[in-house]
Amino acid sequence: MTEPMVRHYGPKAHTDHPPFNYPDYRSTVLRFPNKDMVSIVQTLSETTGPGPAWTEIAEEDADLTTNAGTGGTALGQRIIVTGRVLDENGEPVANTLIEIWQANASGRYAHWRDEDHPAPLDPNFLGAGQCITDGEGVYRFTTIVPGPYPWPNHRNAWRPSHIHFSIMGPALGTRLVTQMYFEGDPLLPLDPIYNSAPPHSRERMVASYDHDVTEENWATGYRWDIVIRGPLAAPTDQEDG
Ligand SMILES: [Fe+2]
Repeated sequence: MTEPMVRHYGPKAHTDHPPFNYPDYRSTVLRFPNKDMVSIVQTLSETTGPGPAWTEIAEEDADLTTNAGTGGTALGQRIIVTGRVLDENGEPVANTLIEIWQANASGRYAHWRDEDHPAPLDPNFLGAGQCITDGEGVYRFTTIVPGPYPWPNHRNAWRPSHIHFSIMGPALGTRLVTQMYFEGDPLLPLDPIYNSAPPHSRERMVASYDHDVTEENWATGYRWDIVIRGPLAAPTDQEDG
C-alpha cells in the first residue's frame, strides 16, 4: 500500500523570527509566554483543513480603493502590491487565502481602538481586503500607501508604513501573520517591531518598487514574495493591534 503523503509542519525556526520577549517593543515584556511551548502532534486534520470558505471571496475584495462599497475611491497614492506565496522548497502555494489590513493614507485605522488618533478617517476606505492565490501562487492587491502612525511605545514613536498580511497556507495550522514594509522607508531603522526580527531575516518583510508592476496613469507597483515557512520564511508578527 502506498503511504499517503502527509506534510509535517514543525515549530517555526525562532532563529528567523522575533523573540517573544523583546524589551524595545515594550508590550512584549508584559505578554510573552513564560512557560515552555508545548508541541502538538500534527495530524491530517491540521495539515489538510478545514479552511475558510474560499468561495465567498470576490475579485472586488482585492481592491481596497473601492471595496468600501460607497461608490467613491479611497484617498491616497494608489499602488498595486503583488508577489508569490512560496513554501519552504520554493514551490508556489496555490489557492490559499491572503487577508490584509492597513491604516489609511493619513495613518489611521477604521477601528475603534484608533478613535483617539487625531488623523482623519476616509469614508471610502475600509482598510481591509482579501484574495486567493492563483495556480502559480500569485496574489495581487490594489490599495493606497498607508501613512505612518504614532504609537505609545517610546517617545515620539512612529510606525513605518506597513500592510498587515495573514497568509493561510495549505491549512489553518500553517497560517503566517506578518507585516509588509516599503523599501527605503526612513522609519524602518527606528521601529522596534521591524527590528525585533533578526537582522538576517528583516528584509524578507520589505517590498521592492517594481516598475513592471506599475500601471501607466494609474498606480505605482510593489513586489513582495512571501515564504511561509522554512529557512527563508518571513518573520512572524508579534504586534497585538
Ligand atoms: Fe499596524
